[in-house]
Amino acid sequence: MDGKKVLYSAIQPTNNLTIGNYVGAISNWLKLQNDYDCFFAIADMHAITVRQEPAALRSKTLAMLALYIACGIDPAKCCMYIQSHVPAHAELAWVLNTFTYVGEMERMTQYKDKAARHAENVNMGLMDYPVLMAADILLYQAQFVPVGEDQRQHLEIARDIAQRFNNIYSPTFTVPEGLFLKVGAKIGDLQDPSKKMSKSAENPNGSVFLSDDRDTVIRKFRRAVTDSGSEIVFDPANKPGVSNLLTVYSVFAGKTVEEAERDFAGKGYGEFKLAVGEAVADRLAPVQAEQARLLSDREYLNGILKSGAERAARTAGRTLSKVYKKVGFYQI
Ligand code: TYM
Repeated sequence: MDGKKVLYSAIQPTNNLTIGNYVGAISNWLKLQNDYDCFFAIADMHAITVRQEPAALRSKTLAMLALYIACGIDPAKCCMYIQSHVPAHAELAWVLNTFTYVGEMERMTQYKDKAARHAENVNMGLMDYPVLMAADILLYQAQFVPVGEDQRQHLEIARDIAQRFNNIYSPTFTVPEGLFLKVGAKIGDLQDPSKKMSKSAENPNGSVFLSDDRDTVIRKFRRAVTDSGSEIVFDPANKPGVSNLLTVYSVFAGKTVEEAERDFAGKGYGEFKLAVGEAVADRLAPVQAEQARLLSDREYLNGILKSGAERAARTAGRTLSKVYKKVGFYQI
């Protein structure tokens, strides 16, 4: 469309999104949506690799669409859809499975982590997750994939699979590149900044959820761990706690990290943490209100999902049919 390059990303509608998801993914999408032909999916098929409560998955899926729009993703510019509405994802994933080695999947760190956390349900889907993600990206011939640092390994494998297929047959897939923020690709847990902030954190004080109310947000930031010394400077190696907070502040206050450092020069940690909490709460309040308003208009949301799935299916169908021809599936 418009000769623009294609950009693809997705989020799983599991648990509540954190400000890590916002900074690492959505805030970056907002900046990119004008310059690329964007597809933003809701990855419900990825979500079921861990057991989900069906009613909750359904409502979180719709809430995710409302959140995308409430954050500022423009449905007039971007194609938003639900992964399971476009069958080509599962179809291409099957073909790509035959170009992916079991050993490669066993080595994925996220698989190893999740297998350890869900030892009672180490299902094939959990292991196959990166192949489905490769199918997502490759179906749209996406050039760029804006994600957080934790998805880097999955993106590498998507590139490997694309190149492998292209080499065996002929150029079929665009080999995608990850777009990682220089600052913010890995927001740390507020209680242990060496760990990534996660939707499923054990300590709920470590993660700030996009659904948290103002008091909760401010309380969590007040309790955030800082570092020894008293200077508020960006130095991830020596001051991981303060640097993490400066990163969050810069994104939510719309400033550079240097400007953020200047704002807090000579100030104390207490004042700093309160200001970070306030900046986050100030941004979340209107997003939450808009998300609630959108959720009361289901017809509007369903309309976006319907046209999104139709458009996605057209694009994805073109790639899938090329792939089917190349591998030798008989066509009528
Ligand atoms: P998911 O749902 O776990 O996370 C969504 C996005 O949020 C980013 N992210 C973070 N960024 C910075 N700091 C953090 N603490 C943090 N935590 C999460 C993730 O990197 C991601 O960008 N497999 C993907 C969803 C997916 C996908 C795709 C992404 C499915 N198909 C195709 C891109 C392309 C996932 O589970 O993300």
